Amino acid sequence: MPEKTFYIETFGCQMNVHDSEKVRGTLAQRGYRQVETVDEAGLVLYNTCSIRDKAEQKVFSRLANFKRQKAEGRIFGVLGCVAQHKGEDIFEQAPHVSLVCGSASYNELPALLDRVEAGEDRVTGLSLDTEDTFETPLTRRDNPYKAFITIIEGCDKHCAYCVVPFTRGPERSRTSESVLEEARRLAGQGFGEIQLLGQNVNSYRDPSEAGWDFAQLLTAVGRVPGIRRVRFTTSHPRDFTPQIIEAIDENLVLCDQVHLPVQSGSSRLLGRMAREYGREEYLDRIRLMKQARRNIAISTDIIVGFPGETEDDFQQTLSLLDEVEYDSIFSFKYSPRAGTTAEKFEDAIPEVEKSRRLAILQEKQRLIQLRRNAELIGREEEVLVEGRREKSQQWIGRTTQNRVLNFTNPAQDLSDLRGSYCRVRVTGSGPNSLVGELVAKENAPAFTGFRILQ
Ligand code: 5AD
Ligand code: SF4
Repeated sequence: MPEKTFYIETFGCQMNVHDSEKVRGTLAQRGYRQVETVDEAGLVLYNTCSIRDKAEQKVFSRLANFKRQKAEGRIFGVLGCVAQHKGEDIFEQAPHVSLVCGSASYNELPALLDRVEAGEDRVTGLSLDTEDTFETPLTRRDNPYKAFITIIEGCDKHCAYCVVPFTRGPERSRTSESVLEEARRLAGQGFGEIQLLGQNVNSYRDPSEAGWDFAQLLTAVGRVPGIRRVRFTTSHPRDFTPQIIEAIDENLVLCDQVHLPVQSGSSRLLGRMAREYGREEYLDRIRLMKQARRNIAISTDIIVGFPGETEDDFQQTLSLLDEVEYDSIFSFKYSPRAGTTAEKFEDAIPEVEKSRRLAILQEKQRLIQLRRNAELIGREEEVLVEGRREKSQQWIGRTTQNRVLNFTNPAQDLSDLRGSYCRVRVTGSGPNSLVGELVAKENAPAFTGFRILQ
């Protein structure tokens, strides 16, 4: 029997990154070995994103590159959001694809692979009719220090611009016991940081008798012995409760960081986007965070050039940046998506105007970050050391606020700091990161989890 090998490339959000970790575990259990190039692989998988047109096009350009390989007996599969969104059309656009599977069908993946391996062409898993989340007995995690845990999948919101409810299916939460069991196992394997994942973690609702809401689950995960840091993403402002802030205030393990996508600073536009909150309600949530005992870093997502966005709407988004003073933002030009409400909105904004607004927004935020990061000079921060930059002899760390803090060790000590938590003094700053010097280190915890490449 020839060895079974697979290659996987992942696009899109952290949910997709984590789905790929589970898919890799599923394949490892079936005797597949992961390889790092398409050339070495018998099975080639793309886990795709369709949030904006550009993301969606990426998979088609990849597939176009490899048309010839099908003849050489290679199997191609498209997973994730484009798979769900485009469905069987993918076979027409890329006839060398044999498997198309959306994220709501990953539990069927072993059965689908049986069929593909038996030589069947055009195998699909496209049903959105599910009450399950995707769980695997083996998850091949990428990062040895930080682990994702899915707590809720899917989305029941109907934001006018968003394709996600069509690609990830209805909201479904995991039981608190299964989440906690995974957290304990990860802590035992040496993962110090946990990131709780969901399209909207705030609507988490424990399906078991305990019936916990998100704040209760967050508190419980924060109490698992061995876990040093807990983050969560992503939040919807409408469901963001004061109890979440109270939980952060009470437990140092919960990181000083909240990502709260706003999308626009204009209530008029938020109404058109069907976001179910206005500027003032959003600012109420921000005020709660700013009044917390902890110094919570706040980040957001913003879309510019949504249909009908006037100069006045845009100015309100700019003024929101001044008012909130975000620690970081992710900003995007609106991209119409098939099947969404906004696809039919007629008052499209020209591309050049979207680009102009995006550039103005990003420059404004760059200046805010420059100023805010400079205020941190002289402070001492605890970082998780995640990597090393040989060229500049720097260690790469992340603070509880999720800021990148690159630092040197003035003691000329050669020991490997990766995976450890260190105290670092901030000595300099830029718009996107800080630099500093090591003050004190601790020993890295023993890592006993799975590395992805054997
Ligand atoms: N066009 C541009 N940006 C989008 N986002 C979601 N849908 C679209 C779209 N159609 C952005 C939102 C969301 C982030 C993940 O992507 O800001 O929060
Ligand atoms: Fe992309 Fe959204 Fe799917 Fe994540 S859920 S992969 S961001 S389309």
